[in-house]
Amino acid sequence: MNANEIRDRFLKFFTDRGHAIIPSASLLPINDSSVLFNTAGMQQLTPYLLGQSHPKGQRLASIQKCVRTTDIEDVGDNSHLTFFQMLGNWSLGDYFKAEAIKWSWELLTDKNEGFGLDPQRLYITVFAGDADAPRDEESAQIWQSVGVPANHIFYLPKANNWWSPGDNGPCGPDTEMFYDVTPAGLGDISLEQYQSADGRRDVIEIWNDVFMEYEKKDGRVIGKLSQKNVDTGAGLERLAMVLQNKNNVYETDLFVPLITTIKGLAKKSDLSAERIIADHLRSAVFLIADGALPTNTDRGYVVRRLLRRAVRFADLLGLPADSLKNLAKQIIDQYGDFYTELKTGENKIIEEIKKEEQKFRQTLEKGLREFNRLAEQGNLSGDQAFTLFSSYGFPLELTKELASEKGLNFNDADFAVAMTNHQALSKSGAEQKFTGGLGGNSEQIVKYHTATHLLQSALKEVLGASIAQKGSNITDERLRFDFACETKMTDDQKLAVEKIVNEKIQARLPVQQVILPKIEAEKSGATHLFNEKYGDEVSVYFIGDNLAEAWSKEFCGGPHVENTIELGHFKITKEEAISAGVRRIKAVLE
Ligand code: ALA
Repeated sequence: MNANEIRDRFLKFFTDRGHAIIPSASLLPINDSSVLFNTAGMQQLTPYLLGQSHPKGQRLASIQKCVRTTDIEDVGDNSHLTFFQMLGNWSLGDYFKAEAIKWSWELLTDKNEGFGLDPQRLYITVFAGDADAPRDEESAQIWQSVGVPANHIFYLPKANNWWSPGDNGPCGPDTEMFYDVTPAGLGDISLEQYQSADGRRDVIEIWNDVFMEYEKKDGRVIGKLSQKNVDTGAGLERLAMVLQNKNNVYETDLFVPLITTIKGLAKKSDLSAERIIADHLRSAVFLIADGALPTNTDRGYVVRRLLRRAVRFADLLGLPADSLKNLAKQIIDQYGDFYTELKTGENKIIEEIKKEEQKFRQTLEKGLREFNRLAEQGNLSGDQAFTLFSSYGFPLELTKELASEKGLNFNDADFAVAMTNHQALSKSGAEQKFTGGLGGNSEQIVKYHTATHLLQSALKEVLGASIAQKGSNITDERLRFDFACETKMTDDQKLAVEKIVNEKIQARLPVQQVILPKIEAEKSGATHLFNEKYGDEVSVYFIGDNLAEAWSKEFCGGPHVENTIELGHFKITKEEAISAGVRRIKAVLE
């Protein structure tokens, strides 16, 4: 079943059940400065979920364009996307659990009206209950009454089965539908087996029914809303993947034409680069159509970053310069019948993409001349690399690549130090906008760097000292931390880690640096990576009043914030296995 048929079936199914179809809202939310982009179908409906009456009635359905950029660095694998389309149906104080669940089941499994998925491969999760809301036995019961065996239904806590758009607004327990994509089928499995299948992505979440009858204020559930609502969301890209028997979204008809063109133009093959170009360009096309043009601030910065990453990866594949605008045209042709704003905005979209690619290439060219001039001196200092970054838009990764091609001595820790010095000199902080580049907002990156230290110490406190860092990656939107641990973290453990980190933030602890002979630094008990090489003198960052008693101490070149209070509020957004014995945490500062 191709993507157009999936959209059509979804909309017809809910039209037949009394729903009015509403158009997708713009990707740029109006009157909502709390989010950069529209990330869910319910976003435009918030006032109506809270009780206001909607002109089109109490039953609505839509296909909403969404952009989520938190995981931009993960794009290239099988499932991460920055742009996706969400199918959704809503009851605004009308039907509730019984109808919502029955219709989800029918649409997913019915061969005539729906998608005809194999019912044996569906697994369902429901809310396990806590102080805010009871265990959702009602939903489990309804699932059983439509034909799901009890042993395909699992109760999970808030971290899994509760949905809210943020710290304020409508929210509630949810029930999520997962599809088994393993060749042989998982059959009857225990909760533990289900959880590890989820970690391996052997089951894929395809739909979420949220029962929005509660309200959140400042992160806490404060009580019930005046009406009971249903808010659902099913990712079109994921449904297409499952319905087309693919194990990744890029092999569905939503991407195959574009990827084929990219492959045809490329001088070499690199799956991840092909996917990054396809994903980033698709997002940029839709964002520009909705009015987000590439600039150095906020939304525009995201568009700039998407396009400049696309240029970088296009170069890596050896695509002819100026290819992006032709690829963009192909996206417009492919999606323009359904999203007519792409056709209306075609000239502007193509023009903006062409301009941005040219601008980036000019900056890169100037930077390259500067780089070559510097390279003649035989090494590259942190300050010089930082200038390439701040004045010429050179991503650090590009500087590193070029330096190694030329056999230059370059240490990226020096770059970080240069960045800290630069910030100390110009305290303009978040106002500091770079002239391009992919480094993101440096102030945010520095905060995430300090948060990573806090996280590591909190993990040791909760899981034991044996957790060793296996990797770390920071963007201006999140931190990612990999560590050795055999078992999945429980929800209590995750909450405990969050609580500790937030307590340390609130304790206003100073973050300080000392340079010590390596032996002494080791004696201080500072954490370091065992296979990493350090010089005779090392830099140690500690969090607390003095080194001896500091709660966190790590060998590290920085940069860091001066005081933990600068970090705001810390929240874990994901915990998953990335390989045997290695877990990955993603977390954000809010
Ligand atoms: N609003 C819900 C989600 O985005 C349906 O998953």
